[in-house]
Amino acid sequence: MKQQTLVLVKPDGVQRGLIGEILSRFERVGLTIVACRMVWADKDLTKEHYHEHVDKDFYQGLENLLTLGPVLALVLEGPEAIPVVRKMVGATEPKSAAPGTIRGDYALVSYDYADSKGIAFKNLVHASDSPESAEYEIHLWFDEEDLHSYDALHQDHTHE
Ligand code: PPS
Repeated sequence: MKQQTLVLVKPDGVQRGLIGEILSRFERVGLTIVACRMVWADKDLTKEHYHEHVDKDFYQGLENLLTLGPVLALVLEGPEAIPVVRKMVGATEPKSAAPGTIRGDYALVSYDYADSKGIAFKNLVHASDSPESAEYEIHLWFDEEDLHSYDALHQDHTHE
């Protein structure tokens, strides 16, 4: 089943110059980029995006991180794009993320370390975790006319 999913390269990924590396992984696997936009999120957009987490202890740290600089917002499309992208991004805690995943290859910190320092951890990327959150998040960051679904030349090899 073809799906669309929202990905954010968060400010830590943008500032470390990892946009190209992260995008090339998604392209290489056969996903298509159907929308792309650089946005410096404010507190309101961050609250809307992480609405399920605003009451949690880590929320303030998460908000500080997301508003630190611009993010690259993307919509990726492909068969089972939501679980495929989550697999490629890796576990939330960088310490636990498997080698070969984006977080496992480029991030380091653990929950314990971040807590001991009183900081939020930088885990580079956000990716929608379900069809419902993808639908909500895509339309939070993009207008319908910004989504450009198209056939990629490699589609015969990766999708059919
Ligand atoms: S929960 O409580 O299990 O629903 O939360 P979880 O799905 O693990 O995480 C939700 C988002 O909050 C981020 N998060 C954190 N960021 C910084 N520091 C800490 N300690 C922290 N804990 C959770 C986590 O990365 C998720 O954001 P995204 O952008 O989706 O990765």
